[in-house]
Amino acid sequence: MKNKIVIAIDGHSSCGKSTVAKDLAKALSIAYIDTGAMYRAVTLFALRKGLISDGKVDEKTLIENLPQLEITFDFNAQLKRNETFLNGENVESEIRNLAVSNSVSIISAIGAVRRQLVEWQRLMGDKISVVMDGRDIGTVVFPNADLKIFMTASDEVRAQRRFDELTAKGQKVDFEEILNNVRERDRIDSTRAESPLRKADDALLLDNSQMTMQEQFDWIMDKLRQRNLI
Ligand code: DC
Repeated sequence: MKNKIVIAIDGHSSCGKSTVAKDLAKALSIAYIDTGAMYRAVTLFALRKGLISDGKVDEKTLIENLPQLEITFDFNAQLKRNETFLNGENVESEIRNLAVSNSVSIISAIGAVRRQLVEWQRLMGDKISVVMDGRDIGTVVFPNADLKIFMTASDEVRAQRRFDELTAKGQKVDFEEILNNVRERDRIDSTRAESPLRKADDALLLDNSQMTMQEQFDWIMDKLRQRNLI
C-alpha cells in the first residue's frame, strides 16, 4: 500500500457516499472525514443562534463566530460510528434533522464558510491517509487526491434511501418532502457561485442506482488495486 493516500468521494446528496467512504476507511484502516457533517454543524450553530430567518443568513455575525467553532469527530465504539462534535457537544443526531438539511445549502454557499472549512479539511488530510466525502473534495480540497470518485444515483432512488434511513431512526417523514429536498439541494449545490458541485475531469463516475453496497465497495477497491494504491 502506498504510504499515504487520499481518496476523494464527491457526488449528489443521499447517494451513499458516506456509507461507502466509511466502509473503505474501515477496510483500509485509514481516517474517514465527513465534510457534509462539518457544513451541517455550522448550519446547526447558525440555526441555534437565530442567524437564519426567511431563508436569509446573517452572514456577518456567522463569519465573526466561525473562528470560535471547533468541529471534531470521534469514534463511538458502542454504536460503531463516527460522531460529529460541535465545541465538544455531540451533535451527530441533530445535524441529520430536516431543519438542518433544509438550511445547509444556503450556509454552504457562503464563500467565507467554505474557505474556513476547506482549510480545516486540508489540515485533517495533510498528514494522514484519509477518505473524505463531500462536494468539492476532488475539485478544491484535494485536487491531487490519489483516487477521485464522483458518485450519483437517480433522484427517486436517493430519496427512497434517505426516507428509509430516517424512518429506521423512528422519524416521521414524508417521501415527497424528501424528494423535493434532494432535488432542491442538487440544484443549489450545482448552481452556486462558490465551488459548485461538479465532477472533476479526472474523477471516475460511479452511478450506483442499480448497485448494491457490496458491488460499489468492490468497484472502488478494484480501482485502488489497479492504481497500486493498496
Ligand atoms: O453530504 P451531506 O448531505 O451531509 O452534505 C450536506 C450539505 O453540505 C450538502 O447539501 C452540500 C454541502 N456540502 C458542501 O457544499 N461541500 C462539501 N464538501 C460537503 C457538503
